[in-house]
Amino acid sequence: MGALVVKELGPLLRRRDFLVRSGLVVGASALAGTGGWVAGKELAEDGETARAEASLGAGGMQGEFALDRGVVQLTSFLLAPHPRQVREAIEQHRRELDANPKGYLFARELELEQAVLEAASSYLGARAEDIALTDSTTMGLGLVYGTLALGPGDEILTTEHDHYATHETLRLRSERTGATVRRVALYRDIASVSVDEIVESLRGSITPRTRAVAVTWVHSSTGLKLPVRAIRDALPDHVLLCVDGVHGLGVEDVEVGELGCDVFVSGCHKWLFGPRGTGIVWASGRAWEEVAAVIPTFDGRGYGAWIQGREPDDLPPAAALTPGGFHSFEHRWALADAFRWHADLGRERVAEHTHGLATALKDGLADIPGVTVITPRAERLSAGIVCCDLGGDPHESVGRLEAEHEVIASVTPYATEYVRFGPSIANTGEDVERALAAVRAIAG
Ligand SMILES: Cc1ncc(COP(=O)(O)O)c(C=O)c1O
Repeated sequence: MGALVVKELGPLLRRRDFLVRSGLVVGASALAGTGGWVAGKELAEDGETARAEASLGAGGMQGEFALDRGVVQLTSFLLAPHPRQVREAIEQHRRELDANPKGYLFARELELEQAVLEAASSYLGARAEDIALTDSTTMGLGLVYGTLALGPGDEILTTEHDHYATHETLRLRSERTGATVRRVALYRDIASVSVDEIVESLRGSITPRTRAVAVTWVHSSTGLKLPVRAIRDALPDHVLLCVDGVHGLGVEDVEVGELGCDVFVSGCHKWLFGPRGTGIVWASGRAWEEVAAVIPTFDGRGYGAWIQGREPDDLPPAAALTPGGFHSFEHRWALADAFRWHADLGRERVAEHTHGLATALKDGLADIPGVTVITPRAERLSAGIVCCDLGGDPHESVGRLEAEHEVIASVTPYATEYVRFGPSIANTGEDVERALAAVRAIAG
């Protein structure tokens, strides 16, 4: 169903009608009769794959993607394929821009950008005016950590497990400000990691100089998911909790306000399956006071003030943080469709499907001799990323999985390397079975 059709009919379409008519719940309906996915879920007692299939239908959302069906793609956490609704929206905007760049931009920009903010606001459970638009997680982290008000005596606490983008932007910031950046380990051994150990590791490392804690919701190094709310509850009020949320957004069934952080930064081109080159920053009211714009926004309240020869006085901080300049607008505007698509699927069902497949994969891997699963099995400590040690060189293993079995995985881009899979709503239980068969073949 095309983006524009959905848009026009939006309020008239009940979610259930939309899902049934677009064929998204065929598997669950066949399994559970007229009871739909909830009943399907109850019937699915034969393991995690069945649980995943009950949530979004046996085919998952596979039919919505244009992925090469010959291979099993388990790397949506790297760079997302666009689902149909997003592809169609991009094409629509592209056609219009190619036909009349100025005309379409001038006529529709304000309305289309507002639609993105509203779709994001509704999906995130946040106020639209608290959301800034960016091109990636990295850009968002750079904007936030690059502008946090810091002085020579101040400290930012981060962890050994964060991504290059967090570590590097903090290093650059500390060079400029003289603020210190300290890294702590959150656990001694991931095999026995617990919520308490993570929370205590951070709480015990706070000093009177600590201004902010910079962490990652779901580690792309191991698949560990942090208990963000418990961390927030353990930190002193004045310490800002800033989260790189890219591997949780589009997986977890939680609104950004419930999550517990003060600043949430994410790309939208991974698990959310948004247009490539899109991202967001959300911050609570208090946190917005701590960050500042460095790239001029093209928001009319900023640009208009400049034309009048004055400084802007009515520019909300999120609008000020949204970098100006012209963008790949067809992608930016189609982000509204990614948020709407996820909202229509339902956060709970997406989480159920993704966790179901990830748990099935972890369980299957754990049964293969010579394989060590690194990612915790517990769902409160994991999301969709599944990391494992297959015993040999992970690059060679990933190469063999692809060359010999057409299963696409990746190697974690960190000092310690693991084989990494990311089953998602673009995958099915059969994909997990194929991945397991491939690992059995190369590990044996
Ligand atoms: C934890 C984490 N943060 C940030 C990034 C960078 O994301 P983006 O491409 O949206 O900048 C990645 C991976 O690419 C990542 O794994």
